[in-house]
Amino acid sequence: MMSKPLVGVQDYEREARWRLPKTALDYYQSGALDEVTLKENKEAMDRWYIRPRFMRDVSKRSLATTLLGHKVAVPFGVAPTAMQRMAHPDGEVATARAAGRIGAPFTLSTISTFSLEEVAMRAPNTLRLFQLYIYKDRELTASLVRRAEAAGFSALVLTVDAPYFGIRRADVRNQFTLPPHLRMANFQSDEAASNHLHTSDGGSGINEYVASLFDPTLTWEDVAWLKSITKLPLVLKGILTREDAILGVEAGAAAIWVSNHGARQVDGVAPTVNSLRFPHPLFPDGGPSRGGGGSE
Ligand SMILES: Cc1cc2nc3c(=O)[nH]c(=O)nc-3n(C[C@H](O)[C@H](O)[C@H](O)COP(=O)(O)O)c2cc1C
Repeated sequence: MMSKPLVGVQDYEREARWRLPKTALDYYQSGALDEVTLKENKEAMDRWYIRPRFMRDVSKRSLATTLLGHKVAVPFGVAPTAMQRMAHPDGEVATARAAGRIGAPFTLSTISTFSLEEVAMRAPNTLRLFQLYIYKDRELTASLVRRAEAAGFSALVLTVDAPYFGIRRADVRNQFTLPPHLRMANFQSDEAASNHLHTSDGGSGINEYVASLFDPTLTWEDVAWLKSITKLPLVLKGILTREDAILGVEAGAAAIWVSNHGARQVDGVAPTVNSLRFPHPLFPDGGPSRGGGGSE
């Protein structure tokens, strides 16, 4: 018998609940600490309303826009999410290909289970951005940047909100580790950055991985360092305040990605969508979502 088609994210979520191993499911769905912000992210989004205007000729429609100068068919894209092959053997390659099929941009996580070269080769027509975590080993980090350039990624997305990882209680209880058949594919198979997550010291393996390998000393000066080693446009991901957005632009960011990391980092921060409130000092005349459409 044909299985019923999955229609909408709720269907995929339900399917994932019974298909995925508990450890993977918990990793994918958890937020930090009490998960207050996780709940509020969704509630705040649900409280944003559409204000439709009717009686306009809608026979020709387009959602196309540009992102960093590149044409995209839709005004959204795929955010970087780590370790996708815990969910499906085709992992990040499938997601990148699917994004390309609808003309959406795709962002590959540093801690992916297909390498950036594999994703580039198997999703050549997708607009690809590379999300960067800065490792204590700066040569290792610089080599990721060079490889992303060589593989035709269009931008670097520096995640600024993760000098340490948020405490996700389910991962602590599960003593989360990466299944033995998978590894962090952007690194050589004999490197700690590839294999460290196969063990846990009794807590969440991902937190132990990050604490031992990521650089928690990062400041705006490191943005200058990153800019000095690449020509790719730099997006800063995880900014939640006007002050940091301004500092980011002054540091040379091509774009600011307002995000609370899906509430996985700091519990108690505002829901992401509320951090975008207009009128905004950066957009004194109301911001790009206003004007023209009669939003009075
Ligand atoms: C399972 C999972 C893994 C994630 N892995 C990463 C990651 O490796 N790097 C990163 O910058 N963000 C990561 N994120 C955060 C997402 O990129 C994104 O910020 C989040 O889903 C919220 O979307 P938004 O940023 O559009 O608000 C992850 C989120 C989830 C749910």
